[in-house]
Amino acid sequence: MIGKARGDPISITGLGAHVPERVLTNDELSTIVDTSDEWIMARTGIRERRIAAPEQALTDLALPAARAALAQAHVEAKDVDLLVCATVTPDMMFPTSSALLADELGAPDAAAYDLLAGCTGFMYALAQAYGMMAAGLAQRALVVGGDVLSRILDWTDRSTLILFGDGAGAVVLERVERPGFIGFELGADGGGGIHLSLPGSGSRRMEDAEGNGFVHMNGREVFKFATRVLVASAQAVLGHCGVSVDEVDVYVPHQANVRIMDHAAGKLGIPRERMIVNVDRYGNTSSGSIPLALADAQREGRLKKGDLVLMTGMGAGLTWGSGLMEWTL
Ligand code: COA
Repeated sequence: MIGKARGDPISITGLGAHVPERVLTNDELSTIVDTSDEWIMARTGIRERRIAAPEQALTDLALPAARAALAQAHVEAKDVDLLVCATVTPDMMFPTSSALLADELGAPDAAAYDLLAGCTGFMYALAQAYGMMAAGLAQRALVVGGDVLSRILDWTDRSTLILFGDGAGAVVLERVERPGFIGFELGADGGGGIHLSLPGSGSRRMEDAEGNGFVHMNGREVFKFATRVLVASAQAVLGHCGVSVDEVDVYVPHQANVRIMDHAAGKLGIPRERMIVNVDRYGNTSSGSIPLALADAQREGRLKKGDLVLMTGMGAGLTWGSGLMEWTL
């Protein structure tokens, strides 16, 4: 799917993020599995990640992120009429985490549902919320992206354990004076889905009970996919919207791995200083990755009114998705 926004004056008016307190460093990881800080830094650029406490579930991370986004937007939860929560680690399959969040926040009039699109979830949810608002179905949306991937990792598998962390982010979408969203490109390739999967997590019976319920990943294949789609999707949305890559002020790729991100920025011709990088501190937080990076950029003063922002996510599905917007906050 590719589309240029019609120019409806809809934009992000509030942004929030939350990560658990517990920091897990590479050195600590090397006491759990056979790895080292040097290996992890060289292959991924990740120094540390946050890990949820045993009693914390997704909504415990998403709730503070959502409250921060609402506060920044000066919006009361009761006025939110759409709540989409992108995650692959909801508190439980149902009730949905979005319904639980709507209840905790106090948004009784909100349509609330969870959205599954792997690490691309936030980009899918953002595009959907924009579309619902542009169609006049919703007036004020809260889009949450977050995951507690530490719950679905095999803590004896060094090839996946080192990559991921826990965290959540949220944005409020409202009608504003100037259009923020410019366009989106979203896609999926189920044929490649097997390279990043969670066997035993749904209605498909799996014979191999061992390893069920844990993330399985073919790292090399996902690496090839990631380097390809981060570039292709960004080029597609830029081309479709008639925007030159030189105009991009802030580039926010999915925070999966510094090598993948550097490759994409290089191929696209985006100077590294325009790219937001926080994967070194948080690892890959899946659906939390892009809103967490946006929140960090805003806190560091790197996201200014009028900036052209390019975001690209990719992940399980396999899925990918880009969004182009003018920052209006
Ligand atoms: N510590 C030390 N050694 C490790 C290791 C670890 N954590 N994980 C794997 N290795 C070893 C392998 O066993 C292999 O050893 P061998 O050569 O003796 O067989 C060697 O390191 C190379 O493994 P390989 O898998 O080829 O490494 P790589 O360069 O492809 O890096 C990833 C592995 C996972 C870092 C990389 O493939 C990657 O980032 N893929 C994308 C993953 C991703 O982003 N997923 C989420 C998408 S949303």
